[in-house]
Amino acid sequence: MEIIKVKNLNFSYDETTPTIKDVSFSVEEGSYTTIVGHNGSGKSTIAKLLDGLLEKKSGSIEIGGLELNEANIYKIREQVGIVFQNPDNQFIGATVADDIAFGLENQQVPSDEMPKIIEQYAKKVNMYDFLDKEPTKLSGGQKQRVAIAGVLAMNLKVIILDEATSMLDPQGKVEINALVNELHEKSNLTIISITHDMEEVLRSDHVLVMDNGEVKISGTPEEVLSNEKELIDLKLDLPFVYKMQKELYNVGFEFEKQLELEGVVESLCQLNLKR
Ligand SMILES: Nc1ncnc2c1ncn2[C@@H]1O[C@H](COP(=O)(O)OP(=O)(O)O)[C@@H](O)[C@H]1O
Ligand SMILES: [Mg+2]
Repeated sequence: MEIIKVKNLNFSYDETTPTIKDVSFSVEEGSYTTIVGHNGSGKSTIAKLLDGLLEKKSGSIEIGGLELNEANIYKIREQVGIVFQNPDNQFIGATVADDIAFGLENQQVPSDEMPKIIEQYAKKVNMYDFLDKEPTKLSGGQKQRVAIAGVLAMNLKVIILDEATSMLDPQGKVEINALVNELHEKSNLTIISITHDMEEVLRSDHVLVMDNGEVKISGTPEEVLSNEKELIDLKLDLPFVYKMQKELYNVGFEFEKQLELEGVVESLCQLNLKR
């Protein structure tokens, strides 16, 4: 089932320049979609349109069978959560615990059940020791951890992550990605992740490539990567395994499976033995 259907979406911040131009795509329930594109291509704007934080100019957005409009916005927000690119825009509470609680209140979680859920998710993102701290005093990466805990705790159907781990160190990114993946797989959670991490793109089910307010390429990672020249023209990086496979192919290695690290490692070992 398609949980999100976007058709001919148009939006502009002012009257003169269109920011989103005739964008159409759909998202399967329980799938993992990545959105890539260079700065200013309209990715964050799409995220905000999907959560009803910006109002479209024309076109339609349907989420969970409901048309996104004024009458349905609260019902839709019970299903869709967003972690903003800039975590400073996410906080309203006096403490980290208050912030996680805020989302739960919106989901009408009974107050006696809240402390347990808050502690559970704070632990999952390694922020348990910070529950009484003021969110404004945290580092960027710590704020991102709290913001992610907040949406994950809400038991939503769709989570939109807008470069949500950009301020974490590499190890932190790996941990948080693993946590998101675990919940995605366990609870049929639909993920839309705006990212520059091409390895994450490779792991996703569906990829949207944005440029200048338009979806230029979409499909599975394999389909999208087959447009190598266009991706390079759009100044996007290619996944490490893809680049390695290409280099190895050029020196005579053949691969049964595309985009698999095992084959690359094996070829590299053979190459090393030959030398
Ligand atoms: N609040 C705003 N007011 C006016 N223009 C904006 C605003 N936010 C973003 N834009 C413009 O809209 C375009 C798309 O921005 P954005 O969606 O943030 O891109 P991305 O997330 O892909 O970097 C850019 O040209 C940006 O300058
Ligand atoms: Mg952005």
